[in-house]
Amino acid sequence: MTLTMTDITIEFPGVKALDRACFNTRPGIAHALIGANGAGKSTLMKVLSGAYTHYTGRITINGNEVTIRSPKDARNLGIQIVYQEVDTALIPYLTVAENIMLNEFVANTDKKTLVDWKTIHTKAKDILRDLNVQLSSRTLVSDLTLAEKQMVLIARAVSTDCSYLILDEPTAPLSFSETEQLFRVVNDLKKKQVGVVFISHRLPELFDICEQITVMRNGEFVIQEAIPDTSIARVVEQMLGEPLEEQFPSRTSTPKDVRLQVEHLADGDKVKDVTLNVRAGEIIGIAGLVGAGKTELCKLLFGATSKKSGRVAIDGKEITLKTPSDAVRRRIAFVPEERRKEGVLVEESVVTNLTAASVNNFLKVFSFLDFKKERSKAGEMINALGIKTPTADTLVQNLSGGNQQKVAIGKWLVSDADIYIFDEPTKGVDVGAKKDIFDLVSALAEKGKSVIYASCELAEVKGISDRIYVLYDGQITKELSASSTNEEELLYLSTGGK
Ligand SMILES: Nc1ncnc2c1ncn2[C@@H]1O[C@H](COP(=O)(O)OP(=O)(O)OP(=O)(O)O)[C@@H](O)[C@H]1O
Ligand SMILES: [Mg+2]
Repeated sequence: MTLTMTDITIEFPGVKALDRACFNTRPGIAHALIGANGAGKSTLMKVLSGAYTHYTGRITINGNEVTIRSPKDARNLGIQIVYQEVDTALIPYLTVAENIMLNEFVANTDKKTLVDWKTIHTKAKDILRDLNVQLSSRTLVSDLTLAEKQMVLIARAVSTDCSYLILDEPTAPLSFSETEQLFRVVNDLKKKQVGVVFISHRLPELFDICEQITVMRNGEFVIQEAIPDTSIARVVEQMLGEPLEEQFPSRTSTPKDVRLQVEHLADGDKVKDVTLNVRAGEIIGIAGLVGAGKTELCKLLFGATSKKSGRVAIDGKEITLKTPSDAVRRRIAFVPEERRKEGVLVEESVVTNLTAASVNNFLKVFSFLDFKKERSKAGEMINALGIKTPTADTLVQNLSGGNQQKVAIGKWLVSDADIYIFDEPTKGVDVGAKKDIFDLVSALAEKGKSVIYASCELAEVKGISDRIYVLYDGQITKELSASSTNEEELLYLSTGGK
């Protein structure tokens, strides 16, 4: 009862995404698949789920060779996938139930029979109950959070016969409790003899939930090991091709005068009362769990939403931020969390994206020389962040998920601002690239820039920041110096501890 993929090769213009890659797993276990951004994890699983038809190699299930040339072939073999790009797989103006039952819904219309709405809702409700997910089947998907959308996709995957379920970075948008809930679902599926393939850049969680781990590098298979017989350090070394260095750079400069001052800021909704300040040359961590209001606070500080009360001052002068362009004019840069939606133009090239946010462009001072300069800046950024792309002119939609994130970050690093706001900058980024991001963030502070670094990855907040504010339920509940706290304390405070 096994699934094997042997010598799978696939090419795209300018890239050999998979080079005789191998993978095998079996029912009833969770199998971790790891590798750096662009290693080929998503592509390998897309081959298995019928998204790409031009691969070569052999796939067998229970010893029989199978051909997978369409998503339907894959589904007929009991292979289901929840893609990394959650939004693209859902129809926002349909309800939760309709989205869960989408495949049957489509099958139904094929047969030109009427859609049985009642059955659709009853079945969807049953599946949600089985999964222990609290969601109304009648809610529109457009009103859901990312975590809820993820659950809808998992519900859809298990709504039909499912022997293998592939989850491509399912926990990236989830909070601790949502992750725990997902793990319960995965454990139940294992008991039902489903084989789960689990892609994630959060290695500790893979060691919690998986039995086997396969490492990929540059489109190739590197090792497969049983989780109890290996370690995080070992698999990271295999995935990078070298041991991981110390993650956080040491800082030499000390923060100067207060640059940004925020007092009792509120948006009348998620942000209730935020008072903080950031000095020139200082990195401020905003530690908070998913849902604490970090994203809303960042958007408020960037003028993407408007404040209800409170004041914001830069260099002692009160300012009003009505729109993001006000913020850009005040030399504030913002790397948003939902990067595919808000951070990058996926239908544009890497170089266009990397130069789009630069202050020059905003001020519309176009000239040939500037363009050349920006192109070379873009090239520097591709190197500094290790963006894996065949050329600078490749469309961003053809990059791997993590490399798209790096483009979104690079885009704002290229622009010359005074205050940088990062919302979950390392989400979906591999451990090697995380280090590159930390280096760049730290270099900003060394150059005298002010940085706000909001993240639920508490160890990273501690590692990169000078000072930390804990955000809980829209309020700053504690201010700490990074050197005098630890991850446990930050977790305690972030979950509402006093
Ligand atoms: N449709 C496509 N067109 C062109 N190139 C592609 C396409 N899909 C993937 N690639 C390339 O194939 C390589 C592997 O990408 P893949 O998405 O499988 O990486 P990944 O391991 O899932 O990375 P991540 O951790 O960033 O999600 C990358 O270099 C990517 O740019
Ligand atoms: Mg991927």
